[in-house]
Amino acid sequence: MQACVYEEYGPAEVVKVREVTRPRMKDDDVLVRVHAASVTTADWRFRASAFPGGFWLVGRLMVGLLRPRNPILGMDFSGVVEETGKRVTRFRVGDRVFGSASGGAHAEYLAVPGSAPMIHKPDGLTHEQAAAIPFGANTALAFLRDIAKIRASQRVLVVGASGGVGVWAVQLARHLGAEVTGACSTRNVELVASLGAHHVVDYTAGPLAEPGADYDLIFDTVGVTTFAGCKPALADAGTYLPLNASVRQLVQALFTSSGKGKKLKAGISSNSSESLETAVGLIEAGALRPVIDKVYPMTEIVEAHRRVDSRHKRGSVIVALG
Ligand SMILES: NC(=O)c1ccc[n+]([C@@H]2O[C@H](COP(=O)([O-])OP(=O)(O)OC[C@H]3O[C@@H](n4cnc5c(N)ncnc54)[C@H](OP(=O)(O)O)[C@@H]3O)[C@@H](O)[C@H]2O)c1
Repeated sequence: MQACVYEEYGPAEVVKVREVTRPRMKDDDVLVRVHAASVTTADWRFRASAFPGGFWLVGRLMVGLLRPRNPILGMDFSGVVEETGKRVTRFRVGDRVFGSASGGAHAEYLAVPGSAPMIHKPDGLTHEQAAAIPFGANTALAFLRDIAKIRASQRVLVVGASGGVGVWAVQLARHLGAEVTGACSTRNVELVASLGAHHVVDYTAGPLAEPGADYDLIFDTVGVTTFAGCKPALADAGTYLPLNASVRQLVQALFTSSGKGKKLKAGISSNSSESLETAVGLIEAGALRPVIDKVYPMTEIVEAHRRVDSRHKRGSVIVALG
């Protein structure tokens, strides 16, 4: 099969399209013929070994200390079940499925445990749209619904509102009843307003978080703000929620997250079939929609990685795999 392979850490150019053997299936696995996969900021971090905020060593131990342990990137996929292991009961050959694997999705075939975060793809979504869901929707659900526990009428600022996580965060915050402000650059103002933001801040024209803005939640998906810098814009018991908490911020969270005053909360996104079902339910109800920056053919995988590296993609970058 054809796959996008990286054998060393580095820039987008380290990824090459190669002929490799199909993945071996175990009894609990499902073999998926992948039709579309996302190239996410996680793929960028793994490929470039760009782990944030003091987590370089942890990242390297996870991905491979000297070179990548799994040479095929890609977590979020959509495709058709080609084969099932003998212990798999949730899926059958021919099922259209999408979900999140621990790697290996930038290839024509992917072996993924039948118990992985993976569900049947609704007919109303294309494979490209389905592959755009897991990373951003699961993260938005984990951070806004589960960690921040947004309530109706709260004032919420999403920094990075046009990015992979931001586009879902704006829509979900709006769906949860918040008064949403999205921050982005000029060229994305219209997009962010179309996602349901009540207000849009153009960070190229002024400050991201105006002192006195009284936000109940500032969700920074980019890493361009600090807790101290955001405090004047937070309401008295407001929460600052960085998507990529640094070691220092984890310590700050320990001391502030349960107090009565302004707090910093931290967390990590979790993937589950239940949250994919929730996302699909909200998409079908018209509350959420996937945003696709561009679909690249497999032969242009390097361009797809470059686009992700730019940190200015709108929503998801997708690679089409057949
Ligand atoms: N902790 C977790 O569990 C978890 C889960 C998922 C993701 N993450 C992390 O979250 C981060 C965000 O991922 P993503 O996929 O959403 O990223 P992304 O798609 O690259 O988003 C980039 C966003 O940042 C904005 N931006 C770029 N430069 C900016 C600046 N100087 N000031 C303000 N905004 C700026 C862009 O807006 P414009 O183009 O308009 O400038 C765009 O909205 C990544 O670092 C990822 O590793 C963490």
